[in-house]
Amino acid sequence: MTQRAEGERSETEPSGILCDMTGQTGEGTFVTTGWKPSPQVAVEAEQLAGRLGLPYVRRSVGLERLYARTGARFALVVERTQRTLHMRGRRVALRFHGGMGLVRLRHALAGRPDGMLLACDLRPGEVVIDATAGLCGDALLAAHAVGPGGRVIAVEKSPLLAAVVAHGLAHTRLSPHAADAARRRITLVTQDHLAYLAGCPDKSVDLVFFEPMFDAPAARLEEFEILAAVADPSPVREAALREAARVARRRVVLQVHRDSDAVERLGLRPLPVGRSSVTRYGVLDL
Ligand SMILES: C[S@@+](CC[C@H](N)C(=O)[O-])C[C@H]1O[C@@H](n2cnc3c(N)ncnc32)[C@H](O)[C@@H]1O
Repeated sequence: MTQRAEGERSETEPSGILCDMTGQTGEGTFVTTGWKPSPQVAVEAEQLAGRLGLPYVRRSVGLERLYARTGARFALVVERTQRTLHMRGRRVALRFHGGMGLVRLRHALAGRPDGMLLACDLRPGEVVIDATAGLCGDALLAAHAVGPGGRVIAVEKSPLLAAVVAHGLAHTRLSPHAADAARRRITLVTQDHLAYLAGCPDKSVDLVFFEPMFDAPAARLEEFEILAAVADPSPVREAALREAARVARRRVVLQVHRDSDAVERLGLRPLPVGRSSVTRYGVLDL
């Protein structure tokens, strides 16, 4: 496993990704800027496009005109303070703002129980791999739970999502202070989690957490629609779970939709399901 210093983040956007392969839908993406970018932002956008293997399109007209001109479905927009992912026909863009993770962290600070934290039972100083980073909501909670001596390595396969979240983790101040401190303990890695875990030494972290995609009412929000369109929808494979059990010292946790049979199918110990909970957890104690 590549060792990184506390707070150091990688934006390991792999190069050579073809334009029509970035969205899971197979439709194209271009990188552009906001209106009237500074020369520095324009260079940053062009460089990001190069790293992602995507076309850079100068922002001369509105996004809808650019979609029509290029035939693309997604636009990754680079601005001075943020990167946002836009989808044709949607007014809302996907951005990093802490989202539900921030809401849950505020609840946790107020003493409310959180299903993921209960399932993981994290201790100060622990090192966690969040193998399905998404918008890093769970990673934020985990990073809070492990405290200043711990850290979270968040692994995300979608380069578009990772481009937005990596920048957000590095530059977006969160409030309260505990959330901002937690975001600095997260390192984002853009890779398939099976490949990442395969490169980690035995028993090199304390816990590995998985939450694959599933359909939920929240998916009807435009922001989640964009997430779902670019995220990898695959369930967790047995091989990934095996690697996680090799790499973790203490526990592997899987969170799935409450109707999923993945917990039993993968041989995990099911935790009791909350009456109003949309999800359920399975754990493997090591
Ligand atoms: C349900 S979302 C996770 C949400 C996240 N826990 C949060 O709090 O924001 C699942 C994420 O895992 C990613 N993913 C799915 N399979 C993956 C894999 N093999 N390697 C890395 N990331 C993967 C998807 O692209 C998606 O972003």
